[in-house]
Amino acid sequence: MSVLVCITGRNNEKLMAQLREMLPDVELKLWPHCGDLDDVEFVLAWNAPLELWQQLPNLKVVQSFGAGVDGIPMDLLPESVEVARIVDPKLSDDMAEYILSHVLAHKLRHQNYLVEQAKQNWKPRRARKGIAAGVLGLGELGRVVAQRLSDNGFAVRGWSRSAKVLNNIECYSGEAQLASFASELDYLVCLLPLTEATHGILNRQLFQHVSNDCLLINVARGQHLNEKELIEAIDMEELGSAVLDVFAQEPLPKTHPFWEHPKVTVTPHIAAVTSLDTVVAQIVDNIQACISDMPIKNGIDVSKGY
Ligand code: NAP
Ligand code: GLV
Repeated sequence: MSVLVCITGRNNEKLMAQLREMLPDVELKLWPHCGDLDDVEFVLAWNAPLELWQQLPNLKVVQSFGAGVDGIPMDLLPESVEVARIVDPKLSDDMAEYILSHVLAHKLRHQNYLVEQAKQNWKPRRARKGIAAGVLGLGELGRVVAQRLSDNGFAVRGWSRSAKVLNNIECYSGEAQLASFASELDYLVCLLPLTEATHGILNRQLFQHVSNDCLLINVARGQHLNEKELIEAIDMEELGSAVLDVFAQEPLPKTHPFWEHPKVTVTPHIAAVTSLDTVVAQIVDNIQACISDMPIKNGIDVSKGY
């Protein structure tokens, strides 16, 4: 049995050193210089290339190195393969901080004052009045974000697939309640997993329900957003502005209109970054569970795709 680490686009030296120290008896391989993959039963993956998945005849568990599992092509995996993801209170807390900071910055018009300062304009204005905030997705991250907004005086709604009852959050569920959820929102946050059902959900049809001044914050996946329709909606004043942390193509191409749009704020997929210090233990636990045929932690429902 061996474990393959296939995480592209980041330096994995520290991660490998920690795994070696915690699993001295396990053979660890690091993509792409890993030779024959016949004995690999556990893959730790992030941005893994498609060609990998056909080379693993004895695969048992795929562990995502993040909260999302959309980078794992579940349709290419045998039904017996289990998929796990990172669940970490630190990730939820970081996400709540990111969202709250952008929501408050919008409410207090920070961006406007930066523009006015550049022109040496002294132009005091009252904070925005709207406090209706909606969170799409009430999972590990969405629930904490919704609660943090509520604790800070916002009137919060949440939308999920199954019906929920949460303290101080007005809960909506299913497609039939999406329009009521979105009605006249001042802030719309997307924290849905990327699945067939949620692909492109941030579109003009949805934007028509929110307030004209609404701030959209997408921290889920770029493919949730119809980018062209976002720009149209902002330019037609059907939507106020957007904060985007995730994009259909990452890094965001230099020529992309979002970079220069005065009403779009771009951050480079940093809203909640998996921290080695807090997640290595749960990865090691799952490797040990895989070796001893025990149940894994934070497994997802492959049939739902999240
Ligand atoms: P999660 O725990 O799996 O929660 C997903 C939520 O979305 C659940 O409430 C679920 O409803 C709801 N949902 C799923 N499909 C739906 C549908 N078709 N209609 C309505 N609701 C639906 O996920 P999470 O851990 O909170 O993470 C959410 C996403 O955040 C990840 O998938 C990832 O893409 C993104 N993320 C981004 C960053 C970043 O730095 N930008 C960091 C971490 C994660 P039920 O509760 O009814 O199942
Ligand atoms: C980051 O985007 C994650 O899914 O953890």
